[in-house]
Amino acid sequence: LALLLALVPLVLLVAAQADGGKDYTGWRVLRAQPASAEQLRHVEVLVRALGAEGASQLWRWRPATDVLVRGDVADAAMRFLGARGIAANVHVADVGAEIRRERSADAQRRGPRPQDVLRSYLRYDEMNEFMDDLQRRFPHLATVATFGRSYEGRDMKVMQISSGGGGQRPVILIDAGIHAREWIAPAMALYIIQQLVENPSNADLIANVDWHVIPLLNPDGYEYSHTTDRMWRKTRSVTDVPECFGADPNRNFDFYWGVVGVSWDPCKETYAGHEPFSEAESEALAMYGLGLRGRLRLYVAIHSYGGVFIHPWGYSHQKPSDYPKLVALGQEVAGAIRRAGIPRFDVGNCFEMLGELAAGGSDDWMKGVAGANFSYTLEMPVPSFTTPAVHIERYVVPTFEGFRAMGRFVSGVFGCC
Ligand code: ARG
Ligand code: ZN
Repeated sequence: LALLLALVPLVLLVAAQADGGKDYTGWRVLRAQPASAEQLRHVEVLVRALGAEGASQLWRWRPATDVLVRGDVADAAMRFLGARGIAANVHVADVGAEIRRERSADAQRRGPRPQDVLRSYLRYDEMNEFMDDLQRRFPHLATVATFGRSYEGRDMKVMQISSGGGGQRPVILIDAGIHAREWIAPAMALYIIQQLVENPSNADLIANVDWHVIPLLNPDGYEYSHTTDRMWRKTRSVTDVPECFGADPNRNFDFYWGVVGVSWDPCKETYAGHEPFSEAESEALAMYGLGLRGRLRLYVAIHSYGGVFIHPWGYSHQKPSDYPKLVALGQEVAGAIRRAGIPRFDVGNCFEMLGELAAGGSDDWMKGVAGANFSYTLEMPVPSFTTPAVHIERYVVPTFEGFRAMGRFVSGVFGCC
């Protein structure tokens, strides 16, 4: 028996690799708190050096700096930080184990119907079934439309929720899943759809406003993150480098494209693409937004993670002229989410919230080109990219209070007919 038990970890290891996917066994997430410009430079040096070896990924700079590092270099990285007086701790001890936990929890909780959006992470096909089912049951409220096609040929779908008004009402446009690994974002979008369509107590939110919700903007990347690499972020298009795939669709919009916070290396996570709208997914969303010009009052891109609500601009330190209004609604939304039980949820622009500028994002495009009055990126208040399915509800339900606040605001200020 002892021998058998001793074999269990080995078998698990082999099983993890047998699916042909990228194995994160032993990889750690280190959380550092660089407290000065000098310490920040040291962290940059570390990230660049390990990144060049494919041994690390920078997940974010702020509110704390999270770096994914390969197991065999994790201790040395911690020593490097310690020697320079930089406070750091191990945020996730074994990313591979977290991924396996997430997967088994999902398998156990998976309900018989695709409607169980709080119980498991739906796949691309299941999301489409979920929307088709809602349209069948609520034909007067919910319409599924195809607005584009992904690089690998998947239909990109939007759920249009309207209780009337003949296409004259103001629109709230929401998308999720532009970054493949941010699984909690599509879960949030599906819950929004479900609540607006199925829950009569939310009737006030759709009485004089239309909601267009895109639950999965990057279906190719999302499916790849399920089948092959849990930490995949980008699209899956070919690049000039044969072994490197995809561009960051949120660096690919044609508004100050590439001016800051992007990589020109197709092997990097924030590769901007070889030209603006090189990625079919970004272009499809941009054109959809343009089609709503004149009605587009509020746009929200749902991402994870961080628990922050980001207003434009992402490409510059400059403040938009209506910046006080953006902050005011932002504070209202963040307050609603905090009151619903999320202790920390902050509002600011990209640099203030994440510690870096980044051009070519969907939020900047919707405000700068499509004319959205209000435009935000919402980073879900989860601790990491891996959130076991048992915890979907704990984060998605309180965050919905933020979307209720947005709905009430848009109805009050712009609502019509
Ligand atoms: N984490 C998001 C990203 O990297 C933040 C986007 C904020 N908006 C922006 N235009 N930079 O895409
Ligand atoms: Zn993201």
